[in-house]
Amino acid sequence: EAATAFGRLVSDMWHGESDCVSPEDFQTALGKRYPAFSQGTQQDAQEFLICVLNELHEALQTVRARGGCCFFSPPAQSSKPTDAKASGGVSETSIITELFEGELCYDITCLKCKTTVARPERFTVLSLPIPAKRTCSLQDCLKRFFQQDTLTRNNQIHCSRCGAKRNAAVEAIMTKAPPILVFHLKRFEWQGKHNRKLSTNVCYPLSDLDLAPYGSHGACKDAEYSLCAVVNHSGLLDDGHYTALCKHSLTRNWYHFDDAQVTQIPTSSVQTDTAYLLFY
Ligand SMILES: *[C@@H]1O[C@H](CO)[C@@H](O)[C@H](O)[C@H]1NC(C)=O
Ligand SMILES: [Zn+2]
Repeated sequence: EAATAFGRLVSDMWHGESDCVSPEDFQTALGKRYPAFSQGTQQDAQEFLICVLNELHEALQTVRARGGCCFFSPPAQSSKPTDAKASGGVSETSIITELFEGELCYDITCLKCKTTVARPERFTVLSLPIPAKRTCSLQDCLKRFFQQDTLTRNNQIHCSRCGAKRNAAVEAIMTKAPPILVFHLKRFEWQGKHNRKLSTNVCYPLSDLDLAPYGSHGACKDAEYSLCAVVNHSGLLDDGHYTALCKHSLTRNWYHFDDAQVTQIPTSSVQTDTAYLLFY
């Protein structure tokens, strides 16, 4: 139901018969599956996005498994055992995973015996730390995310060679870059019960995002990433307001979506210090 409502929403938007289109029906349908997102409640856009992608993935994968849809090619069954999901044993793909799912590989090295194990992990949204108070670049965030980290205390790993809990060094690389890359800027910091919002101005490129330093050989080489949308969050966590900046894929013009108001904006306005999610 949510997937059908989403389809209607997208087609209404592209038909362009009205000045704006309300996503109400889609939200109602999604709210039935994820009650936290039923109407009238304040929610986090990143969590919402993950639910939307999950819901569409589940729906579109079912359609294809029934063989009822002719839009998609048959699922590409991967022969790599690491691709198999623990539950099903077969890799479950959908148009959503094809577009949004990438893979990281964490190399975890025991600091005692130096044994390294590789742990692959899939992602759809990369949550990036913001390493500065006032200004930094998206590259600074990426550098921090991919830099080597040490796991100690509660985060120690069990080393099978030592047969004990050990401190470890961990480092991630991107082994598969998805066609659409979504970044979540971690602006909200929890300190006990209180949260703080970082108002750092994160500068991000509108085109030619360079992922080469973080990818395994060839994984990100030919990928070219241009910014296509930004989720803009102003205010605090509990009483903020979300708007979106989106690039029209044909005219290449940028638009600002603020509830029922949709306005064309100059490209120079796309860089904003309130960016929360970035879509490349
Ligand atoms: C982000 O949202 C705020 C509040 O809705 C708005 O004032 C601001 O213009 C938006 N930023 C951009 C770049 O559109
Ligand atoms: Zn060890």
